[in-house]
Amino acid sequence: MKIPSNIITLIVGVVITLISLWYGQNHGLMPVAASYDATQVDGIFNFMMTIATGLFLLVEGTLVFCLIKFRRRPNDQTDGPPIEGNVPLEIFWTAIPTVIVFILALYSFEVYNTMGGLDPVISRDTPPQQIAMDGTHKQVALGIGTSVEESGDIAPLMVEVQGMQYAWIFTYPETGIISGELHVPKNRPVQLTIAATDVLHAFWVPQLRLKQDAIPGRDATLAFTANREGDYPIICAELCGAYHGGMKSVLYVEDEETYAQWEETNKPVQEASLDETVAVNPKKLSDGEFLSPYAQEMGIHKEILAQVHHH
Ligand code: CUA
Repeated sequence: MKIPSNIITLIVGVVITLISLWYGQNHGLMPVAASYDATQVDGIFNFMMTIATGLFLLVEGTLVFCLIKFRRRPNDQTDGPPIEGNVPLEIFWTAIPTVIVFILALYSFEVYNTMGGLDPVISRDTPPQQIAMDGTHKQVALGIGTSVEESGDIAPLMVEVQGMQYAWIFTYPETGIISGELHVPKNRPVQLTIAATDVLHAFWVPQLRLKQDAIPGRDATLAFTANREGDYPIICAELCGAYHGGMKSVLYVEDEETYAQWEETNKPVQEASLDETVAVNPKKLSDGEFLSPYAQEMGIHKEILAQVHHH
């Protein structure tokens, strides 16, 4: 019995489609998605993976099939048939990739736009921090905003990120916290202002599917809303020197309570009492204040000291 070739083609097509659809969702190549934006990026990645799997199976399958089916038999010295050009076939295999590329372009642009790529600075009540460490104002011109769906009306948590050889420093202007790790509360929009002090670095959190260059002299902004608790690696993704590989930190996404606790324990001491302070910067004290503890030890009163100083 001979099965008609169009039936075989149909079955092969259905099988390839099913395998591609399954693999596109089950490739397991991505780390966990810790934000809504990450899910968006995964959507387009899975879509591309589906198409790529189908193309791979189709092209490689045809190749392997032809290698076996049309192999040279023993004692076969004849030439192959002289085939030259096939206009309908060429139109067909040009049109299909064109359509695929157009769909991908529209889809990726849609995701980029949803992530705020066209409007990186979030305009809300709190203006974005645009003052760099050296006090100069810089234009925030690069980066990615945050999903409109998710951010709502909550004011974003502002964090200044400084990349340097070979560390990341995170400054929280609202609380004055300076940290080597990035702590953020879950479900609250976070806006990073990323700068570099020496050379190019890149701030990369794979679980957020976000990567942004840290450029000396030019601030970039990056906004996200983490929606999954956990600790995720922050990696420098730009070869920046001998210890580039060691330029790592951690992003902690915590619940409200844990974050508030971290904020409380890491806040710089606001009113440092002189008695309790271990180290005092003498430059900030007057002569009298600086000398009084020693003077008392020697039995000299503050008044005498003031008189001596007067003459
Ligand atoms: Cu900083 Cu690589």
